[in-house]
Amino acid sequence: GLIRKPAAFISTISDDRGQELLYAGMPISEVFAEDIGIGGVMSLLWFRRRLPSYASKFLEMVLMLTADHGPAVSGAMNTIITTRAGKDLISSLVAGLLTIGERFGGALDGAAAEFTNAMDKGLSPREFVDSMRKQNKLIPGIGHKVKSRNNPDQRVELVKDFVRRNFPSCKMLDYAIAVETVTTSKKDNLILNVDGCVAVCFVDLMRNCGAFSAEEAEDYLKVNTNPRVYPINDMLTYHVFQMGVLNGLFVLGRSIGLIAHHLDQKRLRTGLYRHPWDDISYMGFGTEGVAPGG
Ligand code: ACO
Ligand code: LMR
Repeated sequence: GLIRKPAAFISTISDDRGQELLYAGMPISEVFAEDIGIGGVMSLLWFRRRLPSYASKFLEMVLMLTADHGPAVSGAMNTIITTRAGKDLISSLVAGLLTIGERFGGALDGAAAEFTNAMDKGLSPREFVDSMRKQNKLIPGIGHKVKSRNNPDQRVELVKDFVRRNFPSCKMLDYAIAVETVTTSKKDNLILNVDGCVAVCFVDLMRNCGAFSAEEAEDYLKVNTNPRVYPINDMLTYHVFQMGVLNGLFVLGRSIGLIAHHLDQKRLRTGLYRHPWDDISYMGFGTEGVAPGG
Protein backbone atom coordinates (compact mmCIF):
# COMPACT_ATOMS: atom_id res chain seq x y z
CA GLY A 1 0.00 0.00 0.00
CA LEU A 2 0.88 3.64 -0.02
CA ILE A 3 3.41 4.54 2.65
CA ARG A 4 3.40 8.19 3.55
CA LYS A 5 6.76 9.62 4.53
CA PRO A 6 6.33 11.85 7.56
CA ALA A 7 6.91 15.46 6.58
CA ALA A 8 10.05 17.16 7.86
CA PHE A 9 8.42 20.61 7.72
CA ILE A 10 4.99 22.00 8.37
CA SER A 11 3.98 25.31 6.82
CA THR A 12 0.65 27.07 7.07
CA ILE A 13 1.01 30.42 5.33
CA SER A 14 1.79 30.09 1.64
CA ASP A 15 1.80 27.57 -1.18
CA ASP A 16 3.71 27.72 -4.45
CA ARG A 17 2.88 24.24 -5.75
CA GLY A 18 -0.14 25.01 -7.92
CA GLN A 19 -0.46 27.17 -10.99
CA GLU A 20 -0.69 30.20 -8.83
CA LEU A 21 1.10 31.27 -5.69
CA LEU A 22 -1.22 31.38 -2.66
CA TYR A 23 -0.88 33.68 0.36
CA ALA A 24 -2.95 32.12 3.17
CA GLY A 25 -5.10 30.56 0.47
CA MET A 26 -5.51 33.75 -1.56
CA PRO A 27 -4.22 33.52 -5.15
CA ILE A 28 -1.65 36.19 -5.99
CA SER A 29 -3.84 37.41 -8.88
CA GLU A 30 -6.63 38.18 -6.37
CA VAL A 31 -4.16 39.95 -4.10
CA PHE A 32 -3.73 42.41 -6.98
CA ALA A 33 -7.31 42.29 -8.30
CA GLU A 34 -8.54 43.28 -4.86
CA ASP A 35 -5.68 45.71 -4.37
CA ILE A 36 -5.15 44.60 -0.77
CA GLY A 37 -1.89 46.51 -0.47
CA ILE A 38 1.14 45.66 1.65
CA GLY A 39 -1.06 45.80 4.78
CA GLY A 40 -3.32 43.15 3.25
CA VAL A 41 -0.34 40.97 2.35
CA MET A 42 1.00 41.30 5.89
CA SER A 43 -2.42 40.36 7.28
CA LEU A 44 -2.39 37.19 5.18
CA LEU A 45 1.18 36.14 5.85
CA TRP A 46 1.56 37.28 9.46
CA PHE A 47 -1.97 36.61 10.75
CA ARG A 48 -3.21 34.13 8.15
CA ARG A 49 -6.38 36.10 7.47
CA ARG A 50 -7.77 39.20 5.86
CA LEU A 51 -8.09 41.89 8.50
CA PRO A 52 -10.58 44.75 8.14
CA SER A 53 -9.30 47.57 5.95
CA TYR A 54 -8.72 49.91 8.92
CA ALA A 55 -6.39 47.25 10.34
CA SER A 56 -4.42 46.87 7.09
CA LYS A 57 -4.16 50.66 6.84
CA PHE A 58 -2.87 50.77 10.41
CA LEU A 59 -0.14 48.22 9.55
CA GLU A 60 0.84 50.29 6.50
CA MET A 61 0.88 53.44 8.55
CA VAL A 62 3.26 51.85 11.07
CA LEU A 63 5.66 50.82 8.30
CA MET A 64 5.56 54.32 6.84
CA LEU A 65 6.18 56.17 10.05
CA THR A 66 8.86 53.87 11.41
CA ALA A 67 10.72 53.84 8.07
CA ASP A 68 13.39 56.30 9.20
CA HIS A 69 14.27 58.73 11.96
CA GLY A 70 17.36 60.39 10.56
CA PRO A 71 21.03 59.40 10.54
CA ALA A 72 21.71 59.98 14.25
CA VAL A 73 19.84 57.01 15.73
CA SER A 74 21.58 53.75 16.67
CA GLY A 75 20.38 51.69 13.71
CA ALA A 76 21.17 54.24 11.02
CA MET A 77 24.60 54.98 12.54
CA ASN A 78 25.54 51.31 12.51
CA THR A 79 24.40 50.96 8.91
CA ILE A 80 26.25 54.08 7.80
CA ILE A 81 29.49 53.04 9.51
CA THR A 82 29.23 49.56 8.02
CA THR A 83 28.60 50.93 4.52
CA ARG A 84 31.54 53.29 4.89
CA ALA A 85 33.70 50.30 5.80
CA GLY A 86 32.98 49.09 2.28
CA LYS A 87 30.43 46.44 3.11
CA ASP A 88 27.53 45.31 0.93
CA LEU A 89 23.83 46.12 1.30
CA ILE A 90 22.88 43.06 3.35
CA SER A 91 25.78 43.42 5.80
CA SER A 92 25.01 47.12 6.26
CA LEU A 93 21.29 46.48 6.71
CA VAL A 94 21.87 43.70 9.22
CA ALA A 95 24.41 45.81 11.16
CA GLY A 96 21.67 48.41 11.63
CA LEU A 97 18.96 45.90 12.46
CA LEU A 98 21.11 44.37 15.19
CA THR A 99 20.76 47.54 17.29
CA ILE A 100 17.00 47.04 17.54
CA GLY A 101 16.16 45.87 21.02
CA GLU A 102 14.74 46.84 24.39
CA ARG A 103 16.07 50.41 24.25
CA PHE A 104 15.84 51.23 20.58
CA GLY A 105 12.88 50.24 18.40
CA GLY A 106 12.36 46.87 20.02
CA ALA A 107 10.24 47.89 22.99
CA LEU A 108 6.93 47.05 21.33
CA ASP A 109 6.33 43.51 22.51
CA GLY A 110 7.42 44.39 26.04
CA ALA A 111 5.18 47.46 26.06
CA ALA A 112 2.18 45.52 24.79
CA ALA A 113 2.69 42.83 27.43
CA GLU A 114 3.30 45.20 30.39
CA PHE A 115 0.45 47.62 29.58
CA THR A 116 -1.98 44.78 28.87
CA ASN A 117 -1.03 42.99 32.05
CA ALA A 118 -1.42 46.17 34.13
CA MET A 119 -4.78 47.12 32.65
CA ASP A 120 -6.15 43.59 32.95
CA LYS A 121 -5.07 43.43 36.58
CA GLY A 122 -7.04 46.62 37.16
CA LEU A 123 -3.99 48.66 38.21
CA SER A 124 -4.51 52.40 38.05
CA PRO A 125 -1.93 54.17 35.86
CA ARG A 126 -0.15 55.42 38.98
CA GLU A 127 -0.15 51.94 40.55
CA PHE A 128 1.34 50.56 37.34
CA VAL A 129 4.13 53.17 37.27
CA ASP A 130 4.85 52.59 40.97
CA SER A 131 4.88 48.82 40.58
CA MET A 132 7.41 49.02 37.73
CA ARG A 133 9.56 51.37 39.78
CA LYS A 134 9.44 48.95 42.72
CA GLN A 135 10.59 46.15 40.46
CA ASN A 136 13.34 48.47 39.24
CA LYS A 137 12.13 48.10 35.65
CA LEU A 138 11.86 50.79 32.98
CA ILE A 139 8.43 50.90 31.39
CA PRO A 140 8.86 49.70 27.80
CA GLY A 141 7.29 52.21 25.39
CA ILE A 142 7.90 55.19 27.66
CA GLY A 143 10.68 57.75 27.22
CA HIS A 144 12.57 59.36 24.38
CA LYS A 145 16.04 60.82 23.96
CA VAL A 146 14.91 63.99 22.16
CA LYS A 147 11.10 64.07 22.08
CA SER A 148 9.18 65.32 25.07
CA ARG A 149 5.92 66.88 26.20
CA ASN A 150 7.17 70.22 24.88
CA ASN A 151 8.55 68.73 21.68
CA PRO A 152 5.92 66.11 20.84
CA ASP A 153 6.56 63.30 18.39
CA GLN A 154 4.34 63.91 15.34
CA ARG A 155 4.42 60.19 14.52
CA VAL A 156 2.73 59.41 17.81
CA GLU A 157 0.15 62.15 17.20
CA LEU A 158 -0.63 60.70 13.76
CA VAL A 159 -1.12 57.18 15.14
CA LYS A 160 -3.37 58.40 17.95
CA ASP A 161 -5.46 60.44 15.53
CA PHE A 162 -5.86 57.54 13.08
CA VAL A 163 -6.79 55.09 15.82
CA ARG A 164 -9.31 57.43 17.42
CA ARG A 165 -10.99 58.02 14.06
CA ASN A 166 -10.95 54.43 12.81
CA PHE A 167 -10.87 51.83 15.60
CA PRO A 168 -14.16 50.83 17.20
CA SER A 169 -12.51 51.29 20.60
CA CYS A 170 -9.09 52.18 21.94
CA LYS A 171 -9.17 51.44 25.66
CA MET A 172 -5.54 50.38 25.80
CA LEU A 173 -4.42 53.59 24.10
CA ASP A 174 -6.45 55.64 26.58
CA TYR A 175 -4.85 53.72 29.45
CA ALA A 176 -1.35 54.29 28.05
CA ILE A 177 -2.03 58.02 27.70
CA ALA A 178 -3.10 58.11 31.35
CA VAL A 179 0.19 56.36 32.23
CA GLU A 180 2.04 59.01 30.19
CA THR A 181 0.37 61.74 32.27
CA VAL A 182 1.89 60.14 35.38
CA THR A 183 5.39 59.63 33.91
CA THR A 184 5.65 63.08 32.25
CA SER A 185 4.72 64.70 35.55
CA LYS A 186 8.04 63.27 36.79
CA LYS A 187 10.16 64.05 33.74
CA ASP A 188 9.24 65.86 30.54
CA ASN A 189 10.73 63.27 28.17
CA LEU A 190 8.93 60.28 29.68
CA ILE A 191 6.32 60.38 26.92
CA LEU A 192 4.48 57.49 25.32
CA ASN A 193 6.99 56.90 22.50
CA VAL A 194 6.37 55.57 19.00
CA ASP A 195 7.11 51.97 20.07
CA GLY A 196 4.71 52.23 23.01
CA CYS A 197 1.97 53.94 21.05
CA VAL A 198 2.04 51.45 18.16
CA ALA A 199 2.14 48.56 20.64
CA VAL A 200 -0.90 49.58 22.70
CA CYS A 201 -2.87 50.43 19.56
CA PHE A 202 -2.02 47.00 18.22
CA VAL A 203 -3.50 45.45 21.35
CA ASP A 204 -6.65 47.51 20.75
CA LEU A 205 -6.63 46.27 17.17
CA MET A 206 -6.41 42.62 18.18
CA ARG A 207 -9.16 43.01 20.71
CA ASN A 208 -11.32 44.92 18.25
CA CYS A 209 -11.18 42.79 15.19
CA GLY A 210 -11.10 39.36 16.82
CA ALA A 211 -7.84 38.56 15.08
CA PHE A 212 -8.28 34.93 16.06
CA SER A 213 -11.01 32.53 15.10
CA ALA A 214 -12.73 30.29 17.66
CA GLU A 215 -11.08 27.31 15.94
CA GLU A 216 -7.62 28.77 16.43
CA ALA A 217 -8.42 29.54 20.03
CA GLU A 218 -9.40 25.91 20.61
CA ASP A 219 -6.20 24.68 18.93
CA TYR A 220 -4.22 27.02 21.12
CA LEU A 221 -5.85 25.73 24.26
CA LYS A 222 -5.16 22.12 23.26
CA VAL A 223 -1.43 22.68 23.23
CA ASN A 224 -1.35 25.21 26.02
CA THR A 225 -2.13 23.81 29.42
CA ASN A 226 -1.89 27.08 31.34
CA PRO A 227 -4.83 27.64 33.63
CA ARG A 228 -7.50 29.74 31.97
CA VAL A 229 -6.62 32.91 33.80
CA TYR A 230 -7.44 35.10 30.83
CA PRO A 231 -10.26 35.01 28.33
CA ILE A 232 -9.23 33.22 25.15
CA ASN A 233 -8.58 36.31 23.09
CA ASP A 234 -6.43 37.81 25.81
CA MET A 235 -4.38 34.63 26.11
CA LEU A 236 -3.79 34.72 22.41
CA THR A 237 -2.78 38.33 22.69
CA TYR A 238 -0.03 37.31 25.09
CA HIS A 239 0.93 34.42 22.85
CA VAL A 240 1.40 36.76 19.90
CA PHE A 241 3.64 39.10 21.92
CA GLN A 242 5.80 36.16 22.92
CA MET A 243 6.37 35.51 19.22
CA GLY A 244 7.76 39.02 18.76
CA VAL A 245 5.37 40.09 16.05
CA LEU A 246 5.20 43.70 17.21
CA ASN A 247 8.95 44.22 17.16
CA GLY A 248 8.68 42.70 13.68
CA LEU A 249 6.68 45.75 12.62
CA PHE A 250 9.52 48.10 13.57
CA VAL A 251 12.12 45.81 12.00
CA LEU A 252 10.23 45.73 8.72
CA GLY A 253 9.52 49.47 8.68
CA ARG A 254 13.04 50.53 9.67
CA SER A 255 14.60 48.25 7.04
CA ILE A 256 13.29 50.75 4.48
CA GLY A 257 15.30 53.54 6.08
CA LEU A 258 18.41 51.47 6.74
CA ILE A 259 18.57 50.47 3.07
CA ALA A 260 18.11 54.14 2.20
CA HIS A 261 21.08 55.12 4.39
CA HIS A 262 23.23 52.45 2.73
CA LEU A 263 22.30 53.74 -0.74
CA ASP A 264 22.83 57.34 0.35
CA GLN A 265 26.38 56.64 1.54
CA LYS A 266 27.16 54.71 -1.65
CA ARG A 267 25.87 57.59 -3.77
CA LEU A 268 27.96 60.04 -1.76
CA ARG A 269 31.01 57.74 -2.10
CA THR A 270 31.90 58.32 1.54
CA GLY A 271 35.14 56.80 2.80
CA LEU A 272 35.99 54.70 5.81
CA TYR A 273 34.78 56.27 9.02
CA ARG A 274 37.04 56.75 12.00
CA HIS A 275 35.72 58.44 15.10
CA PRO A 276 37.71 61.54 16.17
CA TRP A 277 39.86 61.08 19.25
CA ASP A 278 38.66 64.36 20.75
CA ASP A 279 35.13 62.99 20.96
CA ILE A 280 36.28 60.07 23.10
CA SER A 281 37.16 60.45 26.73
CA TYR A 282 40.14 58.14 27.22
CA MET A 283 40.00 57.31 30.88
CA GLY A 284 42.14 55.20 33.12
CA PHE A 285 45.23 55.45 30.93
CA GLY A 286 48.21 57.81 30.95
CA THR A 287 48.86 60.17 28.00
CA GLU A 288 51.15 57.57 26.43
CA GLY A 289 48.20 55.18 26.21
CA VAL A 290 49.69 52.96 28.89
CA ALA A 291 47.70 52.04 31.97
CA PRO A 292 49.12 53.78 35.02
CA GLY A 293 51.69 51.46 36.52
CA GLY A 294 51.40 49.20 33.45
N1 ACO B 1 10.26 54.13 32.58
C1 ACO B 1 10.50 54.69 33.79
N2 ACO B 1 11.49 55.56 34.01
C2 ACO B 1 12.26 55.89 32.97
C3 ACO B 1 12.06 55.34 31.68
C4 ACO B 1 11.02 54.43 31.51
N3 ACO B 1 10.79 53.87 30.32
N4 ACO B 1 12.99 55.84 30.84
C5 ACO B 1 13.77 56.64 31.57
N5 ACO B 1 13.33 56.67 32.85
C6 ACO B 1 13.91 57.45 33.96
C7 ACO B 1 15.21 56.79 34.39
O1 ACO B 1 14.99 55.83 35.39
C8 ACO B 1 15.99 57.99 34.90
O2 ACO B 1 15.51 58.31 36.17
P1 ACO B 1 16.50 58.96 37.27
O3 ACO B 1 16.91 60.28 36.69
O4 ACO B 1 15.62 59.05 38.48
O5 ACO B 1 17.62 58.00 37.39
C9 ACO B 1 15.56 59.10 33.94
O6 ACO B 1 14.27 58.71 33.45
C10 ACO B 1 16.50 59.30 32.78
O7 ACO B 1 16.83 58.03 32.25
P2 ACO B 1 17.76 57.83 30.99
O8 ACO B 1 18.05 56.40 30.80
O9 ACO B 1 18.93 58.79 31.08
O10 ACO B 1 16.80 58.32 29.85
P3 ACO B 1 17.15 58.57 28.37
O11 ACO B 1 16.41 59.80 28.02
O12 ACO B 1 18.58 58.50 28.07
O13 ACO B 1 16.53 57.24 27.71
C11 ACO B 1 15.23 55.77 26.52
C12 ACO B 1 15.64 57.22 26.68
C13 ACO B 1 16.47 54.91 26.22
C14 ACO B 1 14.27 55.68 25.37
C15 ACO B 1 14.58 55.28 27.83
O14 ACO B 1 13.51 56.14 28.18
C16 ACO B 1 14.09 53.84 27.78
O15 ACO B 1 14.89 52.92 27.91
N6 ACO B 1 12.76 53.62 27.57
C17 ACO B 1 12.19 52.31 27.56
C18 ACO B 1 12.54 51.59 26.26
C19 ACO B 1 11.81 52.16 25.06
O16 ACO B 1 10.62 52.42 25.08
N7 ACO B 1 12.57 52.30 23.94
C20 ACO B 1 12.00 52.76 22.69
C21 ACO B 1 12.32 54.22 22.44
S1 ACO B 1 11.51 54.79 20.94
C22 ACO B 1 12.41 54.11 19.68
O17 ACO B 1 13.47 53.64 19.84
C23 ACO B 1 11.83 54.13 18.26
C1 LMR C 1 13.56 56.28 16.13
O1 LMR C 1 12.49 56.14 15.54
O2 LMR C 1 14.63 55.83 15.68
C2 LMR C 1 13.59 57.02 17.39
O3 LMR C 1 12.39 57.42 17.89
C3 LMR C 1 14.75 56.91 18.26
C4 LMR C 1 15.38 58.28 18.39
O4 LMR C 1 16.22 58.43 19.29
O5 LMR C 1 15.05 59.18 17.64
